[in-house]
Amino acid sequence: MTTDQMFAQAAELVITEAQRSIELKGFFSLVLSGGSTPRSLYERLASSIYKNLIPWNRVFFFWGDERCVPPDHPDSNYRMAYETLLSHLPIPDENIFRIKGEYADHAAAAQEYENEISSFFIKNTVSPDKTFDLILLGVGADGHTASLFPGDSALHEQKRWVVHVDAPTYMKPRHRITLTLPIINRSAKACFIVSGESKKTVLTTIAGSPEQAKRCYPAAMVATYAGPLWLLDETVSLDSCNE
Ligand code: 6PG
Repeated sequence: MTTDQMFAQAAELVITEAQRSIELKGFFSLVLSGGSTPRSLYERLASSIYKNLIPWNRVFFFWGDERCVPPDHPDSNYRMAYETLLSHLPIPDENIFRIKGEYADHAAAAQEYENEISSFFIKNTVSPDKTFDLILLGVGADGHTASLFPGDSALHEQKRWVVHVDAPTYMKPRHRITLTLPIINRSAKACFIVSGESKKTVLTTIAGSPEQAKRCYPAAMVATYAGPLWLLDETVSLDSCNE
């Protein structure tokens, strides 16, 4: 599908899941992904076509990861979401769970975010075996997702929901805060939104050799209840990837 079709499908997914969740339980918890790909999705959701389809005061925003930079830094995932989406919608401040990338103590930032997530789930009686309603994820050319990078010990984390990591030297900024697989994989639904020739090799492996992919690509380790949905545009489209 074209890049435009991919973002249209992604927007429809967010709207549909939000309406269903709000109808069912009165709120919708959405994890935003970072990087550059989702920018067009967020702009689309904030557009007149979509912005009036959801009672945004019932939507709670989280992030899959954040760079350890201030919220107004050009590399901040929060800043990108704020500029393209959050600043255009009537969202109460208390509905936005920003990761404090500006803290000098990255472990403290991770712990604070984990505490906030935990309190949210307790307050909103989210069943213990389910976490977020929808998590949006990207894939890097090395197969990372959120800020879970190949070979990182964070991939083996079984207890913590949020950790701080040092990304590989080829990734800037290096210091990051990220959700871990235990909490990602208990999300009710996950959706990868992928664009860019550089991801083609990773996606080909995930589609063709899933067991091998699981050994080397963190994106392949995402295994939510219904299995992740893959939205790929024409730059990486592989039919067998669409589950
Ligand atoms: C981040 C993201 C990361 C991103 C991939 C793809 O903070 O960088 O969370 O996981 O989704 O790196 O990034 P692009 O969309 O920019 O290709």
